[in-house]
Amino acid sequence: MFGNAAVFRTIDAVETFVDEHYARQIGRLSQDERFSEILDILERCRTDEIRHRDDARNRLDNTPSMFSEAWCSLVGLGSAVAVTLARRI
Ligand SMILES: [Fe+2]
Repeated sequence: MFGNAAVFRTIDAVETFVDEHYARQIGRLSQDERFSEILDILERCRTDEIRHRDDARNRLDNTPSMFSEAWCSLVGLGSAVAVTLARRI
């Protein structure tokens, strides 16, 4: 509907959020060595999501418009709301 650039920017925004979310979780769990196995899994998943983010980012060749920046902020906010809701369900 918005074209390839919008799709790639959306992926970039979502994966940026996911990367930061993983980083927070990894930071919390790394305080306790009982979680070393899950930490390895989370690190691998985080690396995979970073690769998705970078792939989308590398496919963009123009600077984002104001609409695009607003859209990506909304995507980040929506991702944060989804995580909050998931924690409560
Ligand atoms: Fe991904």
